Amino acid sequence: MRVLVTGGAGYIGSHTCVALTEKGFEPVVFDNFCNASPEAIRRVEGIVGRNIPVIEGDVRNRRALLDAIESHGIEAVIHFAALKSVGESVAHPLSYFDNNITGTITLLDAMQGASVHRLVFSSSATVYGQAERVPATEDSALSVTNPYGRTKLVMEQLIGDLCTAQPAFGAMILRYFNPVGAHPSGRIGEDPKGIPNNLMPYIAQVAVGRRDRLGIFGNDWPTADGTGVRDFIHVMDLAHAHVAALRGLDQHKGATVLNIGTGKGTSVLELVRAFESASGRQVPYAFAERRPGDVAELWADPTRAEQVLGWRAEHGIERMCEDTWRWQSAYPEGYA
Ligand code: NAD
Ligand code: WQD
Repeated sequence: MRVLVTGGAGYIGSHTCVALTEKGFEPVVFDNFCNASPEAIRRVEGIVGRNIPVIEGDVRNRRALLDAIESHGIEAVIHFAALKSVGESVAHPLSYFDNNITGTITLLDAMQGASVHRLVFSSSATVYGQAERVPATEDSALSVTNPYGRTKLVMEQLIGDLCTAQPAFGAMILRYFNPVGAHPSGRIGEDPKGIPNNLMPYIAQVAVGRRDRLGIFGNDWPTADGTGVRDFIHVMDLAHAHVAALRGLDQHKGATVLNIGTGKGTSVLELVRAFESASGRQVPYAFAERRPGDVAELWADPTRAEQVLGWRAEHGIERMCEDTWRWQSAYPEGYA
């Protein structure tokens, strides 16, 4: 099956291209490279030993999408392309609405125009907002705490409405928790531009000497060690969830929402210690103020993903740290 992978040069997209190819799918990458390097796809090609077609294009361009779908005989779409920085979305909401929501509407319209009816969509645990209880199930209350989160919630709803109106459509809406780690080869990994917003790339850049110390946002949360608790999931486990979701689309019509996490919470301090032990490096840190909008703890109930897809996460926190370190230490400056 030929699969259009929007945002396929990005962090999760590039790892998913490896998993897809290894499982016999043929990914075709569609990316405008606003937050990625073409080098990522060259490395993916090196890992899998095959060429991967790459189209430089924007998901807000219907014509470019239709050309890509028709010229490559596309049968399914995995839609990663989005802007994803919470802070940036607060400062520039319109560009998030345009890129993420307009981009998704344009993609759905192009898919309908080309009679492609299988979609796997990147949603996020951000839709649980200030989660009332943990673990979060797919039926937990949803809320919005920032414009990025609003775009994910709106996109989920748009996809749901389309699947209701057009029974030929099937969508797997995957709510990722906290993706971390890298391909075990160490040749591809997460390469954030500028100062990392997220914890794992920040820890990795401190360990490799690019940054002096980690700021830990709060040590007075109501958790066992006072630091925030999250459900970190290995990016290769996440990549395999996409393969399972594509396979599952033929049995499950309509829109299916699934949590993609491990079901285990790890605190910020536990992750720092696991990284020190995996890397053999010190990760100096200092406690800082709580970050606005953060929650004390959030982890997934991933039961439904196992029931529906037969998928569950395999890798623990140690492996996530080892693989991140292999990538970060081999390429301290990322793809640069
Ligand atoms: P990423 O920024 O590495 O990848 C996104 C890719 O989309 C990039 O290659 C970028 O160049 C491309 N892109 C952005 N806008 C585009 C457009 N208009 N047209 C074409 N390409 C465009 O991010 P990622 O971490 O790989 O995230 C992938 C998806 O998963 C996103 O939808 C993100 O919101 C979602 N997600 C990410 C996380 C996370 O923590 N990384 C968590 C939950 C959900
Ligand atoms: C994890 C923990 C921080 C950085 C974000 C998005 C979410 C989703 C995943 C896309 C928290 C603490 C962090 C640092 C720290 N993305 N931290 N120092 O906030 O759970 O989720 O990424 O959909 O929408 O909000 O992840 O990695 O930013 O933070 O102490 O320098 O690490 O306070 O407790 P988060 P994160």
